[in-house]
Amino acid sequence: MTELKAKITELLFQSHEIDISKYDDDFIEKSIIRRIQHNNCNSEKEYLSFFIENKMEGALFLDSLFISYSEFFRNSLTFAVLDNLILPGILLKNSTNKKKEIRIWSAACAAGQEAYSLAMLLNEHKSAEGRMINFRIFATDYSEAQVTQAQQGQFQSIALNNLTLKRVTQWFKKRGESYIVKPELKERIDFSVFDLSCEDHSCPPNSIYGDFDIVLCANLLFYYNAEFRKKIMDKARHCLAKGGYVITGETEREIMLRYNFEEVYPQSCIFRKLGE
Ligand SMILES: C[S@@+](CC[C@H](N)C(=O)[O-])C[C@H]1O[C@@H](n2cnc3c(N)ncnc32)[C@H](O)[C@@H]1O
Repeated sequence: MTELKAKITELLFQSHEIDISKYDDDFIEKSIIRRIQHNNCNSEKEYLSFFIENKMEGALFLDSLFISYSEFFRNSLTFAVLDNLILPGILLKNSTNKKKEIRIWSAACAAGQEAYSLAMLLNEHKSAEGRMINFRIFATDYSEAQVTQAQQGQFQSIALNNLTLKRVTQWFKKRGESYIVKPELKERIDFSVFDLSCEDHSCPPNSIYGDFDIVLCANLLFYYNAEFRKKIMDKARHCLAKGGYVITGETEREIMLRYNFEEVYPQSCIFRKLGE
């Protein structure tokens, strides 16, 4: 498998200028096995010949690596802790420090579900407290297609399964079989393309200076190797406001503990720099 993986890595770099060596070894191996089975190849050697002879296989292989699955309020415990502990704490701290707005970065936003979920929560805090809450969410992804979809804010009804009827009615407009996010929920979200492997910027250029109270980096770390994960975590650490939080997916909790972050509430997937 090591030889096949190295050969595929080389071929993909030549044909697509995409370097898959930054992905986690197990993830790449599983993807290769899936492609071998899908194409009914009987050995690694046979798959390599198939890969070389079929011009489309490179693109299809890459497609199988780009996983964009997401959900509104994907991890209910994370969002409950955010709603009840973290956001009230940030609001209090920012008003004491006279910080003008809550700044959030959804660093792999897929079709925007995570950013829209947070915008719903913050708007709900705004109405519950009967006062203005200034917030801005920078939502980025390296896939242009995902960012375009996020900006459009159009979802099939099945994608709204985690939402209460109240939220669906308040924040979506039904159009045919789809639901469209209302403009007032989009108002404070800035969607843009940003690749976390970018060497020139540690935070999305649209945000100008980072200073984020929350960085969401959920369900993408585990696709990458340790070196690339560290680069992503360094970026997140660099652009966090003092006392800010990083949020990951459930399977990434162990990874965070290795990078000097502590979980603020057990199993919440919400982390703070150790000692802050
Ligand atoms: C599985 S989805 C997770 C979406 C969302 N964060 C969640 O937890 O539901 C992973 C997303 O990460 C994006 N992604 C992967 N690598 C990236 C990178 N290097 N820079 C920016 N986005 C990336 C993918 O395009 C995809 O939309």
